[in-house]
Amino acid sequence: MGFLSTTAALLLAASSSHAINITSTPTWPDGRCTDKSLTIPSWVLSQYKVSSGTTTFVVNNRAVDPTSLSARVTCSPGKTECQSSAGGDGMRATLTTGSNGQPVIGISEFWSCSDEGDHVTFTANGSTTITSCSGSDCTSPITYLVPGTLNLPVPLTPAQPKAPTGFDAATCADVGENQWIISGVEYKNYTKGQCKQWYQPDQICINPTSFLAKGQYLKLNVTNNAISHEVLCNFNSSYNNPNIPQPLRCTGGNFNEITLDVTWTGSAPNFQVKVEELWYCLENPSTNNNPSVIVATGSTDVALTCESHTGITGAADDIVTICTDAATTHSIDGVQTAKQTLPAFSLITAYPAHGGCTYDSVVNPTFYYRGMYFVTNDNLTLSKFTAGLTGPGFADFFFYQNVAITGTGADTVYTCAVYTDGKPRDQHWKCTYAFNAQTKTITQDKVWECNDKNTATPLYFEGTGEFNWGVDPYSQCSGTGNAQSCYWHDNQATLQPGIPYDIPKVTVSTENVLPPDYGQSVQEVGVASVKTLRVNGQWKLAE
Ligand SMILES: *[C@@H]1O[C@H](CO)[C@@H](O)[C@H](O)[C@H]1NC(C)=O
Ligand SMILES: *[C@@H]1O[C@H](CO)[C@@H](O)[C@H](O)[C@H]1NC(C)=O
Ligand SMILES: *[C@@H]1O[C@H](CO)[C@@H](O)[C@H](O)[C@H]1NC(C)=O
Ligand SMILES: *[C@@H]1O[C@H](CO)[C@@H](O)[C@H](O)[C@H]1NC(C)=O
Ligand SMILES: *[C@@H]1O[C@H](CO)[C@@H](O)[C@H](O)[C@H]1NC(C)=O
Ligand SMILES: *[C@@H]1O[C@H](CO)[C@@H](O)[C@H](O)[C@H]1NC(C)=O
Repeated sequence: MGFLSTTAALLLAASSSHAINITSTPTWPDGRCTDKSLTIPSWVLSQYKVSSGTTTFVVNNRAVDPTSLSARVTCSPGKTECQSSAGGDGMRATLTTGSNGQPVIGISEFWSCSDEGDHVTFTANGSTTITSCSGSDCTSPITYLVPGTLNLPVPLTPAQPKAPTGFDAATCADVGENQWIISGVEYKNYTKGQCKQWYQPDQICINPTSFLAKGQYLKLNVTNNAISHEVLCNFNSSYNNPNIPQPLRCTGGNFNEITLDVTWTGSAPNFQVKVEELWYCLENPSTNNNPSVIVATGSTDVALTCESHTGITGAADDIVTICTDAATTHSIDGVQTAKQTLPAFSLITAYPAHGGCTYDSVVNPTFYYRGMYFVTNDNLTLSKFTAGLTGPGFADFFFYQNVAITGTGADTVYTCAVYTDGKPRDQHWKCTYAFNAQTKTITQDKVWECNDKNTATPLYFEGTGEFNWGVDPYSQCSGTGNAQSCYWHDNQATLQPGIPYDIPKVTVSTENVLPPDYGQSVQEVGVASVKTLRVNGQWKLAE
């Protein structure tokens, strides 16, 4: 079903005259295993059935090609661990009873993606409560989404969108009588800007400094009774924009957003308001998985109580008209103008994404150096140093010769975390380096943050290793003995991002240990607890 009929309906909707168009549903393309695994690790559980106490169902991993990783699961009476068929080798399922007596299915699985050249192994688990089939003989008419939490390669529960307000209301598909309630209507019309002395006519007022622009003002609330959802529509006149747009977009416009337009016509005191709204609804959730998107419209006359007086300038043509609503509410009946069926779970599935900080940290994590320059002392310590480091989620982190923390000679470790960069204190990450001028090798340790998959639970990656700047031969060096000075001058070493290096070791933590403030006194570098790590190109759990 789905795609063709959705496209046809979209074309129909676009060609008809109503102003609110149904936005197309963001759809993940085929493939993209790594992106999907990092963004929507989850399973669809279907064909749930209990027969003489034996439970069977089918599990499909949404991150991988559905046909390649589909498991048929059987749970025998009285057993928690279920049996999964071949094809689901890496999958385990459990059946327990939830606190309300309903069955709870737990799933854990490992799988791998090699779509991006790098071979990444994922493990995740999740659970769902079966709400539509309980007892010893039943068949679930619906499928279930089982959202997953990744354990590998990184500990992460990617954030998913929430369905909009009223989506699960029992009345959400109702369109008809008493669809909307309009309340709190206020309308104003000023023929002149309310300013006694302009600095720039209609734009900058000296007296008073805060003035009202000429034109119309409108404020009203629209409540959709089907979804018990209220929107405040508010238009203020401004320079070059004195008239209420027709229609006025009060809210929304994107997929998964309730969208409301009002069209305000007439003249004081007799007005008309037309409402047009798009909203979402999951009808009959016990037997249906496909949300609907509904567009409806309706209109009513609104007779206001208006008074006019002379405005702030006192001039005869400075007329202020202020209208309020004696009737506190107006009911509007609705007529449905469009309705479409959306794919199951489309409102609660993160939208297609490619790459990003977490992805770049997991797949072939790379550091790039540019702008490299150093001068050493006789004792092999640094007297001058510059490098610009780019990595996953950060670019051009330039650091300079700084406070030495430990070591001597070429083994001196310097900090590259400084608190004098103007950023808030908690936006600092551990960074240290040592530089061996004889081998032109930097030993780097750098933490970076990624929160692109869930802003509430950032991940802190720490990359460490030795990076030989000598692989780029285009350096210009001078000096005698240990006192050397070099800089790199080729384009790759000069331009963004710089010379690439695989990061030999990357670890992941869910906490950021702020680096010490070496400007005050030298302190020990803190240690964050490591959850997962990548060495030799493989991600694994930390011991
Ligand atoms: C709806 O789609 C039609 C046809 O593509 C377009 O002309 C119209 O401007 C769109 N309306 C809105 C509010 O975007
Ligand atoms: C995933 O597994 C862990 C460890 O076994 C468990 O604590 C957690 O509750 C599971 N999560 C879900 C959503 O089932
Ligand atoms: C209008 O709606 C807003 C937002 O829901 C609400 O805060 C406000 O109290 C409402 N005003 C009236 C007059 O109902
Ligand atoms: C209009 O002005 C009022 C009062 O200054 C303000 O509260 C409201 O946010 C403004 N609305 C818009 C859409 O700018
Ligand atoms: C605003 O008020 C003036 C004076 O009463 C009137 O001439 C004008 O038509 C009004 N504007 C609108 C948009 O109703
Ligand atoms: C190394 O030499 C520099 C410059 O002569 C000097 O400032 C620094 O203190 C020396 N460091 C050590 C550890 O001797």
